[in-house]
Amino acid sequence: MTFDAAAVRAEFPMLNGHASGHMAGHRGDQPLHYLDSAAMAQVPGAVIDAITRHETTTRANVRRGVYGLAERATEAYEDARRAVGRYLHADPEGVVFTPGGTAALNLVATAFGETLDAGDEIVISELEHHSNIVPWQMLRERRGVVVKWFPVSDEGRLDLAPLGNLITKKCKLVSVTHASNVTGAVSFVSPIVGAAHAVGAKVLLDGCQAAIHGPVDVPALGADFYVTSGHKMFGPTGVGVLWGRPELLAALPPFLGGGEMIERVTMERTTYADPPRRFEAGTPPVSQVIG
Ligand SMILES: Cc1ncc(COP(=O)(O)O)c(C=O)c1O
Repeated sequence: MTFDAAAVRAEFPMLNGHASGHMAGHRGDQPLHYLDSAAMAQVPGAVIDAITRHETTTRANVRRGVYGLAERATEAYEDARRAVGRYLHADPEGVVFTPGGTAALNLVATAFGETLDAGDEIVISELEHHSNIVPWQMLRERRGVVVKWFPVSDEGRLDLAPLGNLITKKCKLVSVTHASNVTGAVSFVSPIVGAAHAVGAKVLLDGCQAAIHGPVDVPALGADFYVTSGHKMFGPTGVGVLWGRPELLAALPPFLGGGEMIERVTMERTTYADPPRRFEAGTPPVSQVIG
């Protein structure tokens, strides 16, 4: 099979002359050559059409109305959740929509972090995106957890040599990249998952760079949490996904408080909805409704 670059280019309005003359340093007589998809992919016309279709035929708030439009918007939102579940080969009840990869990682650091005590250990790596470093350092400030690091090998991969020293009985979570945004290396996760689960720790894989390369089999990887980012997967901005094992999510406290994440609100106390709704406070952007 040959790669038909012209046919692929034709799918993307940005690559079809629309950017000519607008970009500093871009020569208007040449088509745009875009090489920064790891930071943000361009969107195909089909995605732009889906946004327009939603805004012109189905625009209503999700899960808030009992009239036709609102029910259709809610159905689209839940269809998007099922589609993500299929892509990850995972239970759609574990799919939580977030505003992006960063928000998904902060959700885990805050909600899962609430369940930790001083001295508990989190293992990350020197190969992580800042979004998978800083939230754990902030948690260290708040709760006194210990953050430990996998080093990077000369080849730019996670160096698993110190695995036994890093993942001890005090370890509660290992949070590492599934594919590095620095070197592109795909992590060999099975020894990490084995060692973590052997001491009762959970594993989060940051799939922001990996998930674009094809469906991901999260159960086969053995991850307890998996994070992706929509704008790196030909989607609009404003959407990311946290997948978590449903029974694990059910044991976590909420992240943001507000509408739609509640079961019952009184002046004395509020009870929270079951996941995934517990973690989806507020009105989702159109990018989450179209998935
Ligand atoms: C590996 C990795 N993790 C997390 C993120 C953050 O994702 P977002 O831009 O959706 O917040 C990125 C984005 O560059 C990334 O490459």
